Amino acid sequence: MSVALITGGASGFGAEVARQLVRRGDSVVLCDIDEAGGQAVADELGATFLCCDVSDYEQVVATTNAAEEVHGGLDLVFLNAGISTGCGIAEDFDLQKYRRANGINLDGVVFGAHAAIPALRRRGGGSIVATASMAGLTGTPFDPVYGANKHAVVGLVRALGPALAPDLIRVNAFCPGFAETKIITDIKATLQDSGVPIIPVDVAGRAVLSAFDSSETGQAFLLQAGRDVMVYNFRGIPGPLDESGNPARPADPTGIPTGMAEPPPVT
Ligand SMILES: NC(=O)c1ccc[n+]([C@@H]2O[C@H](COP(=O)([O-])OP(=O)(O)OC[C@H]3O[C@@H](n4cnc5c(N)ncnc54)[C@H](O)[C@@H]3O)[C@@H](O)[C@H]2O)c1
Repeated sequence: MSVALITGGASGFGAEVARQLVRRGDSVVLCDIDEAGGQAVADELGATFLCCDVSDYEQVVATTNAAEEVHGGLDLVFLNAGISTGCGIAEDFDLQKYRRANGINLDGVVFGAHAAIPALRRRGGGSIVATASMAGLTGTPFDPVYGANKHAVVGLVRALGPALAPDLIRVNAFCPGFAETKIITDIKATLQDSGVPIIPVDVAGRAVLSAFDSSETGQAFLLQAGRDVMVYNFRGIPGPLDESGNPARPADPTGIPTGMAEPPPVT
């Protein structure tokens, strides 16, 4: 039995993942700014609810510590709270909305991982899943700031995976297409009119559990409607060449940061 902390647990993916974890016997602590909604899900599941704004560093640290105390440890962390931006970056730019989106979509994940790592280390390892989006893997002209935030989450996860491997802490990103939650309320009719299939929330929940349980780390788990969840295959970047135009061979091949260069050829 694991202990899970879920941000954005009052609705959507957070509430669904909580339901699926409780069903398999795990203990869940839900965090959200929506106090009534979060408490209702907690009451339904026999889970714990803690009110927390993920964009507030002190609140995140205090809430994560409290969540660890409630069940005597922490194993799974779902850094999932997120919002659409509500502004663009041309004449439709709005500084407050921009900062709010960054604060929740990116700071919320950074603060959440920072606060959870000591607790996971005390447990001897664990699994973090951060909700990015397909918007973290492709361009999103309809919400560029959201796309930037979600690419940042994917970048963070790709860096943290190898960095935290020695601590046996796995870190992966969940990257779904459009799914049946509150966040798509305003665009659902347009999506349906355009024939875009919408992912049922229970399918999304199962994909998150598979990311939690996977032995992968530093990966993006892509979920497209109608397809099984898959580990996204990033295109490798070409490695550096030396002055002669041959693949550069660093003195210490193990000194190449993961993903920064193609490994040197084996001769
Ligand atoms: N549904 C989709 O189509 C879709 C697709 C890709 C990614 N996502 C991402 O999934 C995540 C979850 O969203 P969802 O689809 O379940 O939508 P949702 O609106 O149902 O859930 C988001 C939850 O986050 C909470 N929240 C918002 N601001 C918060 C804050 N400052 N502190 C704590 N909690 C806060 C909300 O109260 C809500 O309960 C988000 O990160 C979103 O960007 C959603």
